[in-house]
Parts: sequence; C-alpha cells; structure tokens
Amino acid sequence: MNQTEAEFSYRLWRHDGAQGELIPLLQSAQDHFGYIPRRAIKYISGVAKVPESKIYGVITFYSQFRLQPMGKHAIRMCTGTACHVANAGMLLETIEDELGIEVNGTTEDGTFTLFSVACIGCCSLAPVMMVDDDTHGSLTPVTTRRIVRKVRRKTLAGEKKAAAEKPEEDAAASPAKE
Ligand code: FES
Repeated sequence: MNQTEAEFSYRLWRHDGAQGELIPLLQSAQDHFGYIPRRAIKYISGVAKVPESKIYGVITFYSQFRLQPMGKHAIRMCTGTACHVANAGMLLETIEDELGIEVNGTTEDGTFTLFSVACIGCCSLAPVMMVDDDTHGSLTPVTTRRIVRKVRRKTLAGEKKAAAEKPEEDAAASPAKE
C-alpha cells in the first residue's frame, strides 16, 4: 500500500460503519486519486456495505465524480444560457467528434478531458470554452477544432522534446564507465 492509499484508508476508517456516508467516501477517494479507481470502489463497498453496482450508479449520477484519471488538459465548454443559444451544443458535439470522447471522458492518450460547464462569466463572448486557464470566445466549429488541434500538437511536441532530452540527462546522471 503506497502513501496515498494509506491516507485514503485512514479517511475511510474515520467514516467506517456510518450510515449515508457514501458521498463523502467517494469524495475522499476522488480527492486522493484524482478520480475513483476500481480498487477504491471495491474498498468502499466493503467498508460501507453497499453493493459495487449501487456505487457505480451513484458515481455516474453525479457529474462531479470521475471513473477515469484527468487528462493533461481540461476543456470546459460553457453550456450556460448565452452560450447555449449561440450553438454551444453543436460545438460540444464538434469537440466530442474531434477527440472521440463524450462529456466527462478522457482521450485514450490522456491529453484531454472534456467538461460541459455552466456560465463562466464571459457571456458577451459566447459561445465560450476554456482550455485549462485560457478562455476562447466567439467560437465556431472551425475555430474550436483549430484550438483543440493546436493544443494537441503543442502537447505532443513537448512530450517528444522531453523524450529526446531524457537519454542525455540519464547519460549525464550515470557515472562514466572505465
Ligand atoms: S453563458 Fe457561457 S459564458 Fe455565460
């Protein structure tokens, strides 16, 4: 058991046996792991004496809970009223199509997680999405795809660069052979 799991178990122990504690337990798991892994569900099921199927039901009911780890980048598409009337729904479908995931999903390569969110306070720029901390407004399907592809390209380039530099660092770190 690593440290994260040990802390998580400690929190569970504090809730042990209490009725109606499922939500705090799930929140606790998500705080620790960043999502709710299968082993946490198994564990919670044992502690709270709730069938795993019921726990899955609760997790999928509340959008705050995640069954997958977060991607490197979070895309938050605003579907508040102003954005909704400015075709945010179509843009959300555009992103889903571009990334091959649905809302709350993470791409297979772990680059993106997609969220649908309520008003983010830039209604005059509707329709709006945020990619991490950057806000993008007056979106069209074309500009939306362009932004997503640009972030993906930058991420891949950064990963390639890091991979290319790694052998040099490793060589520098290892003692020279005689
Ligand atoms: S409704 Fe989208 S920013 Fe306000």
